[in-house]
Amino acid sequence: MINDKLNTLLANYAVVAHKTQNFHWYIKGHTFFNTHAKLEEFYDQMFDQIDEVAELVLQNGGQPLASMAGFLKAATIDEAEDGFKEVNALFATVKSDFESLRSLAADIKKDADAEDNYLVSAAMDEHIALLSKHIWMIGQSQM
Ligand SMILES: [Fe+2]
Repeated sequence: MINDKLNTLLANYAVVAHKTQNFHWYIKGHTFFNTHAKLEEFYDQMFDQIDEVAELVLQNGGQPLASMAGFLKAATIDEAEDGFKEVNALFATVKSDFESLRSLAADIKKDADAEDNYLVSAAMDEHIALLSKHIWMIGQSQM
């Protein structure tokens, strides 16, 4: 079911948004100013994505997950523990999580295309494009 997969995408965005905010809070060291600001940009965007996916589920006739317990139960991406993370490890985690989100969005797009569901298919294009840009940028920063 597309709405089940959209709810998994929603839950994963919720986990990754809080995870990047966790990293934003605990980052320290000489990269602090850049890393702190970039992580804030990521989670600000993801809270917009969360709202968009939830409203997409509603437009698609379903019920979006809306509780923290529901998100954690449905998510396929793990939370991060509280505490400082080294900056390279932190961005490797964010990149890997973005790749998981993009892979799920692409899977949902395939399902949507098979059902001629243009609304969901077009929405997934935007998620795939935005995530791809972030994945590329993080990759550039790791060279
Ligand atoms: Fe902040």
